[in-house]
Amino acid sequence: MCGIIGYIGSQNKGVESVLNGLEHLEYRGYDSAGIAFISDDKLNIIKEKGRIADLRKSVEITSSNLAIGHTRWATHGEVNKVNAHPHHSGSVTIVHNGIIENYIELKEELIKKGYEFKSKTDTEVACALLDYLYQKTGDIKESISEFKKKAKGAYAIGLILDNDKDNLYAIKKNSPLIIGISKDEKFIASDVPAIIDYTNKYIILEDGDYAVLNKDSVTVFDNENNKVNRKPRTFEGDALSISKCGYDHFMQKEIYEEPEVIKKTALTDIPDISNYDRICIVACGSAMHTGLVGKSLIEKYGDIPVDVEIASEFRYKKLFLDNKTLVIAISQSGETADTLEAVKIAKKMGSDTLGIINVKESSIAREVDNRVYTLAGSEIAVATTKAYAAQLEVLSKIAYSLAKNSKDASKLKEIKDYLEDLQKLPIIMQEVLDNEEEYKKVAKEIYKHKDIFFIGRGIDYALAMEGSLKLKEISYIHSEAYAAGELKHGTISLIEEQTPVIGIVSDKLIADKTISNLKEVNSRGANVIYLTTNQIKGEGDFYSTKLVVPEVNPLLQPIINVIPLQLIAYHVAKYNKCDIDKPRNLAKSVTVE
Ligand code: F6R
Repeated sequence: MCGIIGYIGSQNKGVESVLNGLEHLEYRGYDSAGIAFISDDKLNIIKEKGRIADLRKSVEITSSNLAIGHTRWATHGEVNKVNAHPHHSGSVTIVHNGIIENYIELKEELIKKGYEFKSKTDTEVACALLDYLYQKTGDIKESISEFKKKAKGAYAIGLILDNDKDNLYAIKKNSPLIIGISKDEKFIASDVPAIIDYTNKYIILEDGDYAVLNKDSVTVFDNENNKVNRKPRTFEGDALSISKCGYDHFMQKEIYEEPEVIKKTALTDIPDISNYDRICIVACGSAMHTGLVGKSLIEKYGDIPVDVEIASEFRYKKLFLDNKTLVIAISQSGETADTLEAVKIAKKMGSDTLGIINVKESSIAREVDNRVYTLAGSEIAVATTKAYAAQLEVLSKIAYSLAKNSKDASKLKEIKDYLEDLQKLPIIMQEVLDNEEEYKKVAKEIYKHKDIFFIGRGIDYALAMEGSLKLKEISYIHSEAYAAGELKHGTISLIEEQTPVIGIVSDKLIADKTISNLKEVNSRGANVIYLTTNQIKGEGDFYSTKLVVPEVNPLLQPIINVIPLQLIAYHVAKYNKCDIDKPRNLAKSVTVE
């Protein structure tokens, strides 16, 4: 996690460019931030606990041609100014994203050599090690090369030296790092949004690379210290997608972008995967929830068994993978450490890998054998919404591509109009969005409660999990998702007078079963909010509010159903005056295990 940026140029814009870049990287972590810059040949380091806005208040915009900055998501050491980056040791100052796994051992060695440490961070140890090697060799390139041999773990590092105001250094292993190129200015950054206000030309460093940047040139060295050419790329994205465009929050704006995202992603090609005997989906959080929806759709319509694994668990369990198993990694950021590692393991075990990824050229996108991009554009709100919808769409397309040759006539009938229905979907989604007031009313009814439950069966259970995660992560209200029939095996004892229970009922074949479960909780005092389609009756007075969405092709129904859930979560958090786009303790890109 964490975001880093560095600037070297001749326009004296280092401080402003770094602060501005950090604002665009805040989605990667936002508990503290800092900047180091050279001004009048003097090194300045300023750090603050809190957001970039807090850092801004402490920094005077001074002329500087060399600056590095950091926004932190704490891993080692509590959130305070001392642990915030940049860290300084001897004549080296660094910002770092990643984790130095052997920092305790390195720290002990450095203490023996006379180094003292102020912070609890692994980064200060990396900084001291770089300084030690620099004092010993007098050559920073040699020191970086030695550092890479000694430091274990993941690092994207921006480095400046007290006595060298003409060069900025970058080191990369297992954490993303790009170099932005414009005429008289060069940048390093964790991600493209940090530099997009200055340039759309960039190169991606590969693992083991380090680079030397000055205002006119960039030189990259690979793991063997050979000079290499990394291909310059052009960012094709839309800079507008990183502004709120009049919405109160990025999350709300991104929910409203869903119809457009679905329209764009509908045009992506899906590879033929009909040769595999089994599919294994690996992902984390919401991406894993889309995997669960995908499992239902692919198994039901595509007739291939699918396992869904939480990537952080997949890594540490006995695996049964082979060349007849396709491993599908789903990730918005394409940087989630556990998902990336799961892909590497799958490849080693002989399985083919397919990524469903939003961020182009991200680490997972580059690691997988084949990829389908979701065309959601930049997602800034920490809680995913539009990328989630696009992942559902890609999975539905995969299920359709497997199902369309099925011999099962009834199945074929159910999905026969899929392509046409997919075209119509954005308009129907817009109709659902137009009902925002209804979802806001539900939010007003429930926002003061301490516990909220979501229930559903089959595919609706997978959606319940997403609705529940969305609500709890941004509103901090305890919420749980339950398979509707499972509730009475324990959890029903938590239902009290007026406890909100949101029941999702969109599958006609099993609707009665879930409705019975909703009646059970209603008769125990629950306030039932019943989310269903216009084709399901649901007789009885078991709910206080009924939310009706249009029934669509079964492969597309989840994309419709999730909209009310996202908007309810959004408004509950808004009523509770939460920091919706940057919920506490979270970060958008989880690059630590
Ligand atoms: C929840 C959320 C997270 C992510 C998870 C995986 O709203 O956004 O649960 O889905 O951290 O992230 P990616 O998709 O970037 O791998």
